[in-house]
Amino acid sequence: MNIAICPGSFDPVTMGHIDIITRAAGMFDKLIVVVMNNAAKQCSFTPEERVAMIKKCVADHDNIEVDAFDGLLADYAAKRGARAIIKGLRAMSDFEYEFQMALANKKLNPDVETLFLTTAQQNMYLSSSMVKQIAGMGGDISGFVPSVILKDITDRIGNK
Ligand code: PNS
Repeated sequence: MNIAICPGSFDPVTMGHIDIITRAAGMFDKLIVVVMNNAAKQCSFTPEERVAMIKKCVADHDNIEVDAFDGLLADYAAKRGARAIIKGLRAMSDFEYEFQMALANKKLNPDVETLFLTTAQQNMYLSSSMVKQIAGMGGDISGFVPSVILKDITDRIGNK
């Protein structure tokens, strides 16, 4: 079975992530979305909350599993027998960081390849931090995140 993993902090998952996840799921027998820790980021949702939100968004996809892992991505890929790590690229500004991580992961686990999917044009500007900033100031985030998780986000971050 061809298994790929799509890692990220997903704090929270956005339309941009869901686009990459569903397109990748169409290319592999199984896609595992894994919520991980990004040492450079302070998260607003627990890993369990982030997993629950992603599960709601991909509920109608049979070949997508959602998991959380606190450790190295290269180790998780080996543990799950994944052949590919899927990352989305929005702009050149994402590239340097992603390229560095891809090389480090290849060194740590030579059996896994990193594949980049280009983001859909309408999601070029979208990021979890932008969603949180807009929600925090009482703005409308309905165009940026799937409707099934809108309330989860505004309940936590929305301007009260
Ligand atoms: O959505 P993000 O924050 O850009 O995702 C980054 C993430 C979580 C995939 C990255 O920080 C990661 O892989 N973390 C797990 C720990 C690890 O393996 N670090 C070394 C990567 S070279």
